[in-house]
Amino acid sequence: MKQVTASAPGKLIILGEHAVVYGKPAIALAIDRRIRCTLSEAQETTLNGRPFEPGKHPYLRSMMQHGSGPVRIFTESSIPPGSGLGSSAALSTSFLKALNTLNGIDKSGKELATDAFLTEYEVQGRASPLDTSASTHGHGISVNGPEDAGEHLWDIVMNDKTWSVRDLRVPNMTLVVGYTGLHAATGPLVEKVRRYKSKFKFADDIIDEIGETTVDGMKALKERDLVRLGDLMTNDHKLLSILGVSCKELNKLVNASLKHSYGAKLTGAGGGGSMIALTDEPEKVCESIALHGGTPFVVRTEEPGVRIE
Ligand code: MEV
Repeated sequence: MKQVTASAPGKLIILGEHAVVYGKPAIALAIDRRIRCTLSEAQETTLNGRPFEPGKHPYLRSMMQHGSGPVRIFTESSIPPGSGLGSSAALSTSFLKALNTLNGIDKSGKELATDAFLTEYEVQGRASPLDTSASTHGHGISVNGPEDAGEHLWDIVMNDKTWSVRDLRVPNMTLVVGYTGLHAATGPLVEKVRRYKSKFKFADDIIDEIGETTVDGMKALKERDLVRLGDLMTNDHKLLSILGVSCKELNKLVNASLKHSYGAKLTGAGGGGSMIALTDEPEKVCESIALHGGTPFVVRTEEPGVRIE
């Protein structure tokens, strides 16, 4: 029986979430938390040993409806779902890589990132290709940054928007994640920002400011200026709060981290999920996050992208 395993990393967003959906710049890093997806041919589709229930698994349903025969699916994940750390992108990317390989199709880079993005777009109703590009390429990526931001990888176009994805080299730095334990689905938060934007014209200025903050962040990364980068991250958290995607629990963990950090912010869609802190004192930040009800962990970046195992 033919069997294929693929794995793909989660990610954290340093700057630019939500605004990137509107074509603004963003920075994401793949992290050392992955989803492994093992597929084999079967008479009927099963998921982790049970009959597959499409209604409970919208990402898998969306990917399977594009012409897959029945498959036996096993998934293993070290990324909490709804944690803002890219579990849906890692699932989409690893599943598509395994499915294509099982069917003798060789897709990687732009082609794979685009297919995984279309899955997120379909399930969430709106999305940017940031998470799926980070999961495909691994390491660090910038989207819609200046030309000198790094080697150009691919462009993804949808409706009237183009996202230009570049490899991003980042200096050695320590990031601590604080997971609130609150599961937050991305689609409704992206929709919340859309509604806010259509109701209040000033939200466009906030989105623009997130974009400018992100471009400054790319410069700070290039200059290895962690003090500046930290300030920009904290400012970005303020802007995201104005858009209504932070929450009490995230604010509490951000506040708790700031004393021992260059800066801190929510990461991903918000509404729960996780925050990140840029720090030289990871033990102290972890202690403080735990004391305030979060689950802390230090992440390693420079993680490779999707791969066959
Ligand atoms: C979610 O990880 C990032 C968002 O910007 C949505 C997206 O880019 O698709 C909130």
